[in-house]
Amino acid sequence: MSYNFDQVISRLGTNSAKWDGVVDSLGEDMVVISVADMDLQAPPQVVEKVSEMARHGIYGYTDPFPPYYQTVQKWLDRAYGWSVPQEWIVFSPRIIQAVSIMIQRFTEPGDRILMHTPAYQPIANAVELNDRELVESRLQLKDGLYEIDFEAMEQQMQAGVKMVLLISPHNPTGRVWTKCELERIAELCITYDALIVSDDIHADFIHEGHEHTIIATLSEHIAERSIICTSPGKTFNLASLEIANIVIPNKHLRERFQQGLRQAGIHNPTFFAPPALEVAYTECDDWLNELRNYITDNISFTEDFFAEHMPALEIVKAEGTYLLWVDCRSISHHESDLIEWIQTKSRVSVSFGTSFGADGEGFIRLNIGAPRAVLQEAFERMARNYPLRSR
Ligand SMILES: Cc1ncc(COP(=O)(O)O)c(C=O)c1O
Repeated sequence: MSYNFDQVISRLGTNSAKWDGVVDSLGEDMVVISVADMDLQAPPQVVEKVSEMARHGIYGYTDPFPPYYQTVQKWLDRAYGWSVPQEWIVFSPRIIQAVSIMIQRFTEPGDRILMHTPAYQPIANAVELNDRELVESRLQLKDGLYEIDFEAMEQQMQAGVKMVLLISPHNPTGRVWTKCELERIAELCITYDALIVSDDIHADFIHEGHEHTIIATLSEHIAERSIICTSPGKTFNLASLEIANIVIPNKHLRERFQQGLRQAGIHNPTFFAPPALEVAYTECDDWLNELRNYITDNISFTEDFFAEHMPALEIVKAEGTYLLWVDCRSISHHESDLIEWIQTKSRVSVSFGTSFGADGEGFIRLNIGAPRAVLQEAFERMARNYPLRSR
């Protein structure tokens, strides 16, 4: 079967955080390629299942039953080669909620928590909102590739870090951490006794030539101090159905996390979430494969367009995710100039770099999980106002 990812579907009027949010603040003529959900319909099998559930009409309290856990088990095995017992899997509506609870349960106010920056801000914010100290391990851009500065990271860990919040693959840089890098991270966490929380929400988009490794699979020893956050939210575009699968091998940690969920009053998934996940994880392989090809083609389309029309912009080679991190510093090091060009003049909404921390200044993040026509419209607008055009 062939799926029509080219179809443009307006999301205006759906309370879309991405579209309605921008239109509300900036006006109806904006083209939006920022917030990380896709402007593509979920697989038809999922749409059908959700419609069937909607027609049922009784939207009562829902529990995760064994088929949910078994489906996640099979998916973890099939997608990442990770065979886990059912009891390791804990349901949480959203990863951001789960991570906040882990911060609260496994660290104390004032404790230091390390992230690699630039970083997805809601998670970084969760550190500071919970009165912990965010330790920024600054990624180094070398020959177009972001690398971890392990020496600096070790010094930071020596000064005391209770938790490493890993984004794997990394948002916004698109890095897919290699096994070797993950081993070095894990080694540091063992040496300095830090908990590893790995947010693997983007793990189903790994581009050719790269391989995703779940850090907990490196050894039993590492698994014992690791918590892995997975979700069908990005993969099948189900963010608002709110279902994430938190995998915790260590019984003690798992029980403390479950207690944290209970304390926060989090226990039921929405009526639509488990059936949607079950269908997505079992019946939608073809759809996902075609989507991956579409994303790959969108990357090529973006690279070609930029090379031809905005050659000073450098797209950081994405190894995974449907996000592109673009170095715009040859246009300006000041974000205000980029906002003026892209948002004010071109009427395009992208994620500006400082929304990933101070290290992001001079960069933008593009979400290419959209019909190609939407990307084309956004890029043509940017190219028309490209500051270096007449030179
Ligand atoms: C790295 C990362 N983690 C978590 C999320 C959000 O996950 P959730 O909606 O399950 O909180 C996102 C969404 O953009 C993300 O990029």
